[in-house]
Amino acid sequence: VTTFAYAVGSPREVAAGLLIVPVFEGLEPGPGVRETRVLDAYAAAKHTGEHGEHLLVTKRRGDRFAADAVLVVGAGKKDAFDANAMRRLMGRAAGTARRFGTVATTAAMAVGARQAEEAVQACAEGLGLGTYRFDRYRSDPDRRSVTKVTVVGSSRWDAKVMRAAARRAGVIVDAVCWARDLVNTPAGDLPPAALAAEAQKMAKAAGITCKVWNETQLRTGGFNGMLGVGQGSANPPRMIELRYTGAGRAKPIGLVGKGITFDSGGLSIKPADAMETMKCDMSGAAAMLATFKAAAALKLKVNLHAAIACSENMPGGRAQHPGDVIHHRGGVTSEVLNTDAEGRLAMADALAYLHEQGVAAIIDAATLTGACVVALGPSITGAMGTDDELMGQILDAARAVDEPTWELPLHAAYRPMIESKVADIKNIGKRYGGAITAGLFLKEFVGDTPFVHLDIAGPAFEEGGGHDLGPAGGTGVPVRTLIRFLADRAG
Ligand code: BES
Ligand code: MN
Ligand code: ZN
Repeated sequence: VTTFAYAVGSPREVAAGLLIVPVFEGLEPGPGVRETRVLDAYAAAKHTGEHGEHLLVTKRRGDRFAADAVLVVGAGKKDAFDANAMRRLMGRAAGTARRFGTVATTAAMAVGARQAEEAVQACAEGLGLGTYRFDRYRSDPDRRSVTKVTVVGSSRWDAKVMRAAARRAGVIVDAVCWARDLVNTPAGDLPPAALAAEAQKMAKAAGITCKVWNETQLRTGGFNGMLGVGQGSANPPRMIELRYTGAGRAKPIGLVGKGITFDSGGLSIKPADAMETMKCDMSGAAAMLATFKAAAALKLKVNLHAAIACSENMPGGRAQHPGDVIHHRGGVTSEVLNTDAEGRLAMADALAYLHEQGVAAIIDAATLTGACVVALGPSITGAMGTDDELMGQILDAARAVDEPTWELPLHAAYRPMIESKVADIKNIGKRYGGAITAGLFLKEFVGDTPFVHLDIAGPAFEEGGGHDLGPAGGTGVPVRTLIRFLADRAG
């Protein structure tokens, strides 16, 4: 576990393993650089302060700093160095910190008092998220880690407010890293019942109400989408229902997560290479669970009600057939023309359930379509919705926390693409517009409840060599957006 702290005082006296100080383009020293006298060494390395130009200065006799080492980081253009740039920079530098055990930075002092709170939180988040590793399955894990993150601030800032910002960062890092752990855990070790057990454990520790619906209860309740998707698997479905009350009697915000613990495609089976990362198909579920964990820890003044649809999509003797018709919770019927378009089938029941329960709005997160990744590329969330105000709030939150999110239209003229010849709707559209037709399918189940759907098929899972805020694997997107949205809503 990592401690997140805020401190004031001379950068020279910061007693950390590693002290990170920024230099801007044109060799302009950032906060802490003059005091620690590391600019000459940085210049001697022919660096100029551009992004990626880092120099590690280890301590020698006569050096002017208490830390074991100073990492001088190229921070790019000074006027572009806002809280989000800080988070990214700290995220990239954080790997080095693992060798030193504790880390501190002066970077937040590059902004004025008005942005100080955001800057402190962002620096702490970057350092916390950037040191994340998933080592549980290695026989010889690298045990080095960071036990303490300290953000050094100005004595002119309100220390109480800044300490709270650092503490908030700690909560957010904890939640995001938990979501990453759940996503990274192999599907064989995290079937629906195990994911539900993790949720229950979290809820108990956080003081949240959690009800897990088992297969029998789902059948009685008519949750036939979740059941249909899961019926080819030896691991039966579950629905995780969570409630958090932080605002008395107000109508709750409804949260739905896609919790397909593995997506083989079912009988419409995927090719082998497309299946390699399909343990990530419960990323939406993980994000919603982590959002509850953080909301409770932050005591956010909002009410939440989640329905998380957990099924394993496998081919098998009992698997659903292309052409089968599902009678969903709430009465809508859908024709299953492709068993690989399973997320919408399982989520339909959860959406209908929350609509029926009378929530103020519904937000879902789902690794729903490859088409969304084609449209927006691997790192942008596709947002589709029925309510401009709610959409605006989500997009504002996403921008504020630097989780790139772009709106796609729930274009009504595409609705005929999901007309079925035998049922109310079918689960696939035409060749083009697949992210939108999936969104239109979900919309059928929310009635007139304001609704935003987040398609995170791209950004939920980093397939390459890692990203600014962490290694390859689960990213924890869109946990930070959701927490920000809820915090803004709480006022
Ligand atoms: N889980 C996948 C979508 C996905 C693709 C997530 C890539 C993450 C990375 C989803 O269930 C799926 O298979 N969608 C199909 C829908 C199609 C059959 C209409 C797709 O996108 O190809
Ligand atoms: Mn699928
Ligand atoms: Zn899927």
